This record gives sequence, structure tokens and C-alpha cells, in this order.
Amino acid sequence: MSAETAIYPGTFDPITNGHLSIVKRALTIFDRIVVAILDNPQKAPLFTLEERIFMIKEAMEGLHNVEVDTFNGLLVDYAVAKEVNVIIRGLRAMSDFEYEFQMALMNRKLNREVQTLFLVTDYKWFYTSSTIIKEAASFGGEVADLVPKIVDLKLKEKFGAAKNA
Ligand code: PNS
Repeated sequence: MSAETAIYPGTFDPITNGHLSIVKRALTIFDRIVVAILDNPQKAPLFTLEERIFMIKEAMEGLHNVEVDTFNGLLVDYAVAKEVNVIIRGLRAMSDFEYEFQMALMNRKLNREVQTLFLVTDYKWFYTSSTIIKEAASFGGEVADLVPKIVDLKLKEKFGAAKNA
């Protein structure tokens, strides 16, 4: 187990500025961050796994010591396989708390060696989420200031294409 590395897991459908901010801040604590995308088609993501990997890699360009990886199954099993014992999660408004609390406790029940560390999201991103951003973008709302450039482009491509279909 290495305390120099932490896993930052999520669906990242798509990555937002809030996620990016958490990765940057986590890099001030840990030497290396593994951004781990859950590969779960049952969640019916807007973006394919490949699209999400591509967008994250683009958004992380210039950031050293970030690995982009995918996983399926239990997060704690993935952490053990990667020999990492810290999971980072960002906490936004109160509505996140119950879900995050449940998940952290379940992960702890499943493996007490793996610790969950919460970083409070920067106030600028406190009320944004991938879900709400997708909804706004789907109706033509401007979200360029909430997501990395590549994501804004891909959202416009996706929803522009849908509108023109
Ligand atoms: O970005 P999200 O959707 O909030 O991320 C949720 C994620 C991927 C971290 C969570 O669903 C997860 O870890 N799934 C893998 C299965 C698992 O281990 N669940 C937690 C214990 S039930």
C-alpha cells in the first residue's frame, strides 16, 4: 500500500471543472492521483467510456502524475489491485452528504484498510454536477465556464447533432 498515491473514482460523465479542481488540490497532498472511471454501461452514460477517457486526458494535459484508468466491480477491490489505500471524493452541497456517507461506510465495511478522504469542493463549483450540466447543455444552455474546453466542445457536438437529427 502506498500513501503517496490516491484514487479519485467516479462516473465522470463528463468531467467538470469541479472534478478538475479536486484533482489539482489532491495533487498538493498526494504525489500521484489515479482518476478511475467506473465502467458501468448500466448507468447509461451520455458519453462512452472512450469519450470520457479522451476528455479527461485532454482536460488533465499539463498536469503531471495523473493516471487515467477504468475499473468495474468493487472500488475497494480495484484499490487493492492498484496497491492504493486512499480514495478521494469531493463533497459539494449537503445533498451529497448522505450518499457519500453511505458509500464511505460501505467501502469501509468491505475493506478497513482503504480510507476515504473528502475534499470540500471549491465554492465556485458547489452547486454544479455532471447531471445538471448535461441537462442545461441539452437545452442549449451555455456551460462553457463550468467544464473544460474539450467537454464544452463535445457537449455542443453531441447536443447540436441531436438537435439537427
Ligand atoms: O461520480 P459518481 O457516479 O458519484 O461515482 C460513484 C462511484 C463510481 C465512485 C461508485 O459508484 C463506485 O465506486 N462504484 C463501484 C461499485 C462500488 O464499489 N460501490 C461502493 C460500495 S457499494
